[in-house]
Amino acid sequence: MALLAADRELVRAFWRKLGGNVGVYATEALERTFLSFPTTKTYFPHLDLSPGSAQVKAHGKKVGDMLTLAVAHLDDLPCVLAALRDLHAHRLRVDPVNFQLLGHCLLVTLARHYPGDFSAALHASLDRFLSHVTSALVSEGC
Ligand code: HEM
Repeated sequence: MALLAADRELVRAFWRKLGGNVGVYATEALERTFLSFPTTKTYFPHLDLSPGSAQVKAHGKKVGDMLTLAVAHLDDLPCVLAALRDLHAHRLRVDPVNFQLLGHCLLVTLARHYPGDFSAALHASLDRFLSHVTSALVSEGC
């Protein structure tokens, strides 16, 4: 199902508000994911995953940049994220449940930083956006 116009507007406006901090929040969400759902760490045996780790920060920056790219291409997510799908689905073989865990932690992180903005409507729109990103990363379609 395509994202509704209202979802797009809410997500784009919120992303503008995040500005250059997306990588910071993505890093915090990754740290929360590793702490709350430790099985996710098994995909990163080669990285130092301790809180405050420079490697997690660098990875969070990459994840954040990719989410910002996705927000800029809401109509074309499967094609824009095709290379990343090859990496996650085919090379890394990430179990799709892990995307839900990271998405959940992203929502919690953003809600903590923007309690005044995080209405039920924004919550639902961000959730649908992250579901679309996950679909693009786990299933064929471009
Ligand atoms: C919103 C969902 C996600 C996004 C946008 C995302 C984005 C990215 C990006 C941009 C990279 C770097 C690719 C590169 O360097 O060329 C990456 C690598 C990677 N991702 Fe994801 N990712 C997501 C979810 C996940 C999940 C849920 C897992 C597993 C729990 C995962 C595991 C990995 C691993 C193991 C790497 C390689 C890290 C390395 O070797 O340094 N990703 N991801």
